[in-house]
Amino acid sequence: MAEARIIDGKGFAAGLRARIGAAVEQLRTTHALVPGLAVVLVGEDPASAIYVRNKGEQTREAGMHSVTHRLDASTSQDELLRLVNQLNNDPSIHGILVQLPLPGHIDAQAVLSAIDPAKDVDGFHVVNAGRLSVGLPALVPCTPLGCMMLLKDTVKDLRGMHAVVVGRSNIVGKPMAQLLLQADCTVTIAHSRTRDLAGICREADILVAAVGRPEMVKGDWIKEGAVVIDVGINRVPARDPAAAAAGKTRIVGDVCYAEAASVAGAITPVPGGVGPMTIACLLANTVTAACRSAG
Ligand code: GUN
Repeated sequence: MAEARIIDGKGFAAGLRARIGAAVEQLRTTHALVPGLAVVLVGEDPASAIYVRNKGEQTREAGMHSVTHRLDASTSQDELLRLVNQLNNDPSIHGILVQLPLPGHIDAQAVLSAIDPAKDVDGFHVVNAGRLSVGLPALVPCTPLGCMMLLKDTVKDLRGMHAVVVGRSNIVGKPMAQLLLQADCTVTIAHSRTRDLAGICREADILVAAVGRPEMVKGDWIKEGAVVIDVGINRVPARDPAAAAAGKTRIVGDVCYAEAASVAGAITPVPGGVGPMTIACLLANTVTAACRSAG
């Protein structure tokens, strides 16, 4: 069996950002409309801080208006809700993203529910989740949206394929399953309590791994020729023992890439697969929200 085709998410995301940049320029010149994205970070989680910085940079690179609110970890839920309300009422802001996780004293669901669904570029509000599930136009969570773009680019006709989604989170697993269903796939949602997980994965023409467990999906869980989408971004000790002892790390997915690449037909690498698509889709959702706000 030949090595799997590598699905180049990094390259696809760069192309998407360029197309978004062109659309933003068009909106500015023809409609005097500049899409605006506000990102809110509470606390100092280092991984979140990097994500938030990248979001701001890529928003500006696309020619959009970018605002970042960095709040102290001790910020109260009421203060955060007041900020969300202020952003809901700010006409220069079309998209609002509150970075997760939030500190333990804040009820994340209450905060997400306070975001105007029309500005909910994460697609986490129950209104958008509900609209997606009944097939109405919705703002769709960025990571599954990016996965679907890569899948549609890789597989010309998804209809009737058996897609197995491993993971049932509100952020990835559930919306991913909805999108695959909309594309006429036969969808199985598997999770940590699923019996014979390996056997179910082996039935998949499309396997989406979104569990957050490093290299959990092994090569012999994959059907020959399947398309594998690895959503995982897990930091593990470096391969070299001396480097690991010095605290060096590397990033791996939820799929054991070296094993999977010799069985799958196509696979996303980690890094450089799904990861870069998430922010590109955030920018796309912000443009969508801005266009809808203009009627
Ligand atoms: N934390 C990790 N991923 C995400 C995401 O997609 N959106 C938000 N708001 N927080 C996150």
